[in-house]
Amino acid sequence: MVKSDQYDAIILGAGGAGLMCALTAGQGGKRVLVIDHASGPGKKILISGGGRCNFTNVNATSANAQERYLSANPHFAKSALGRYTPSNFIDLVADYGIAFHEKTLGQLFCDGSARQIVEMLMAECDKSIASGGDVDFAFHAPISDVRHTDGRFIVTYNGLTASAPALVVATGGPSIPKMGATGFAYDLARQFGLKVVEPRPALVPFTLGGDDILFRELSGVSADVVARCGKIRFREAALLTHKGLSGPAILQISSYWRHGEPVGINFLPDQPQGWLRQCKRDKPRSTIKSVLASSLSGRLADILADRIGEQSNLADLQDRRLEEAEHLLSDWPFLPNGTEGYAKAEVTLGGISTDGLSQKSMEAKTVPGLFCIGEAVDVTGWLGGYNFQWAWASGVAAGSEL
Ligand code: FDA
Repeated sequence: MVKSDQYDAIILGAGGAGLMCALTAGQGGKRVLVIDHASGPGKKILISGGGRCNFTNVNATSANAQERYLSANPHFAKSALGRYTPSNFIDLVADYGIAFHEKTLGQLFCDGSARQIVEMLMAECDKSIASGGDVDFAFHAPISDVRHTDGRFIVTYNGLTASAPALVVATGGPSIPKMGATGFAYDLARQFGLKVVEPRPALVPFTLGGDDILFRELSGVSADVVARCGKIRFREAALLTHKGLSGPAILQISSYWRHGEPVGINFLPDQPQGWLRQCKRDKPRSTIKSVLASSLSGRLADILADRIGEQSNLADLQDRRLEEAEHLLSDWPFLPNGTEGYAKAEVTLGGISTDGLSQKSMEAKTVPGLFCIGEAVDVTGWLGGYNFQWAWASGVAAGSEL
């Protein structure tokens, strides 16, 4: 093997986690090779946040990690998130003069384009030279073989071979396969004896069937709701689609949902208990439909009122009947028959088990020199910048140990 094929570390995957790991190691004076089968870096960054990249969330801190990151070990993400914080990434963005704004709930987006984030990360990789390091890239490079012999990882791609004493698995999860997403990380993890927590699509729209199919007629209608699954609740917009339910509140709750479970929607989250009885006193000649139409889209109000099945004036309805209607409207039971799957899932729940990894360095406990970062690992954030913050933080955690 020629000398130039030997690196300090090989990083598989040039997404957010792989790039952050590469620039950290490169600026630490390491020679790094990043291999990706895509045509260029950060493909998911480019399409994220509707092209404006929701690059972090000011609340994606170690203090909130247990609640806002799902994992078989809810404490695992705290260490990396505590050492590389949203402020660290915001400072980097500001250094590059990238304008950004908070949209809602701590979510930070570029004013311009997600491309600025990818360009910034690539420029940071270029800075490695000044520290005696280097980051090389191989794109259009499917990986055909990974071996571990005599303390070195030997990777074969495009008929070429490279080796290094450290290997970083940063190939993400299988969500959005048409963008080149694969379950490659899981195969590799198993090859090295690491466990994989069963992966499943998350932050994903629901599909509706059965009696709920009527709601598909409302495709395009949205409402500010509270979505509930078990004891977990999210207040945000829900969107009715031609397949079922989507929108931020639904995507969030989908990460907590299991097949067969109902999802409750509160269509009128600001109404106090007893509001329908109050309406009966204030506007006795109104109907459930007319009352609903004053707060919800007309078509949604129609369907909900038709399903409740009371056309009479409120004055003619018993209080008990109004209480039942109110209860239904505050926790409308949908029974999703599935999700739109990996084709539409923003992230993958589960992944390489954190049991086998150091939370400080992301290194495999049983395979020195093997690191796993980003979405490939069993750490999945809420919607709204949490997943990129995990990609950055886990990338830095591994990159500073290479
Ligand atoms: P990522 O998937 O980004 O990178 C993995 C890399 O590995 C890819 O470049 C891929 O080509 C490569 N790869 C895969 N298999 C390979 C193989 N077999 N051989 C070689 N290379 C291989 N999050 C957030 O915080 N804010 C947001 O705004 C959004 N928006 C968003 C929109 C959409 C449509 C999606 C699908 C996802 C988001 N996300 C998000 C989630 C976020 O994009 C995701 O969590 C991170 O990109 C994960 O970063 P990773 O680097 O771990 O994986």
